[in-house]
Amino acid sequence: MAGMRVLVTGVDGYIGAVLGPTLLEQGFDVVGMDCGFYRDGWLYNDTRPRPITLTKDVRRMGPKDVEGFDAVVHLAELSNDPLGELNEHTTYEINHLGSVALARACKAAGVPRFVYTSSCSVYGAAEDGGERNEQSAPNPQTAYARCKVLVERDVGALADTHFSPVFLRNATAFGASPRMRFDIVLNNLAGFAWTTKEIRMTSDGTPWRPLVHVDDICQAVILALEAPREAVHNEIFNVGDDEQNYRIREIAGIVGQVFDGCTVTFGPPSGDNRSYRTSFAKIRRHLPGFRCRWRAELGARQLREIFERVGLTEEMFFARAFTRLEQLKHLIATQQIDADFYWRPLESRAGRGPLE
Ligand SMILES: NC(=O)c1ccc[n+]([C@@H]2O[C@H](COP(=O)([O-])OP(=O)(O)OC[C@H]3O[C@@H](n4cnc5c(N)ncnc54)[C@H](O)[C@@H]3O)[C@@H](O)[C@H]2O)c1
Repeated sequence: MAGMRVLVTGVDGYIGAVLGPTLLEQGFDVVGMDCGFYRDGWLYNDTRPRPITLTKDVRRMGPKDVEGFDAVVHLAELSNDPLGELNEHTTYEINHLGSVALARACKAAGVPRFVYTSSCSVYGAAEDGGERNEQSAPNPQTAYARCKVLVERDVGALADTHFSPVFLRNATAFGASPRMRFDIVLNNLAGFAWTTKEIRMTSDGTPWRPLVHVDDICQAVILALEAPREAVHNEIFNVGDDEQNYRIREIAGIVGQVFDGCTVTFGPPSGDNRSYRTSFAKIRRHLPGFRCRWRAELGARQLREIFERVGLTEEMFFARAFTRLEQLKHLIATQQIDADFYWRPLESRAGRGPLE
C-alpha cells in the first residue's frame, strides 16, 4: 500500500497521534486534519515523524478538502460518552451530521474508501449479560453512542460500487499515546495507582467493558485500508479480542498487580448503566491478519514505564488537557470556543478563527 494517499481527521487526538506516525512508518502518504481542541496536552515525546496537519473543523469540510485521496480515516468527533452529554446538540452536529457530510464529500470527490471509527458503546446496556456481535440490536445509552448508530446507518446508505465505507466499532481503548487520555478506564485507574496509590473506581466495578490497545486499533485501521474491497465494503467490525472482555473490577485487579502496593476502592453502583460483552469473531474472519497484540496487563506495564519516564505527578494526571470533558469546559469557560464549539475569532482578526 506504499504511496496510498490517506487523510486522517482527528489526527491530533488520542488514537490519531499514534495512527498518523504508524501510517507514515508503513509507507502511506498521510495528511492530517484536526480543529485542535486538545493541543495543550502532550505527555511524552514520540520521535517518529508526524504527518503534515491542517487545522480545520470537520463541519466546514467539503469535496475540495478530500479530493485526490485514496481513503479518508475519520476520527474527528467529540469522542466519549460523558463528553457527548456536555452539549447534545453540538454532539449531533459534529458527530452525526459532520460525519455524514464528510462521507458525502468523499463520495462526491471520488474517494473510494471511508474508514469510520465507531464504538462498541453502541451496545450500551446489555442487561442479560449476553455477548453482543455485529448482528445484535444496538442499545445506545448516550448521545455519543446514538450518533455512532446514526452515522453507521446514514453513511452505510451511501455505499455503492465507487464508495466503500467500513465501520470499526472499537472497544474501549487503553495504552500509551503522546496525546494521553486519562478519561478511559484502564488509563484512569493506572494514573490513580501511580499518583495516589489508590485504584479508585467510580462504580461498584461490576459493568463489563471490552478493551483494546490503541496500537491494535491502528492495526485494524491499516487492515481496513489495505483489504480487498469485497472483504470490507459497507461492513461493521467490532475491534478487540474475545479474551479482553473484562468487568471493571477485573481491570482494577490487573492494574493493582502492575502497580503494587495500592489499595482498590469502589464507588456506589453508578447511574451509568453501560455494560456489554462483545464478540470479536467477525473481524478475524474478514481481516485474517488481525490479532490483538496487547493485553490489559501489558498495557498497564507500558503506562507504568511512561509514568516513570515523564515523572507523572498528580498535577499532570489531573491536568485538563488529558481529560476531554475538562478541556472543553475550559475552552467554553474562557470563551475560546463558542456555544457550538467553533473557535472564536480574536478581536484583532475579526471574522476569522484563531487557528483557521
Ligand atoms: N478512545 C476510545 O476509547 C475510543 C473507543 C471507540 C471509538 N473511538 C472513536 O475513535 C475516534 C477517535 O477517538 P480518540 O480517542 O482519538 O478521540 P480524541 O478526542 O482523543 O480525538 C479526537 C480528535 O478530533 C478532533 N475534533 C473533535 N471535533 C472536531 C471537529 N468538529 N473538527 C475537527 N476536529 C475535531 C479533536 O480536536 C481531537 O484531536 C472517535 O470517533 C471515537 O469516538 C474511540
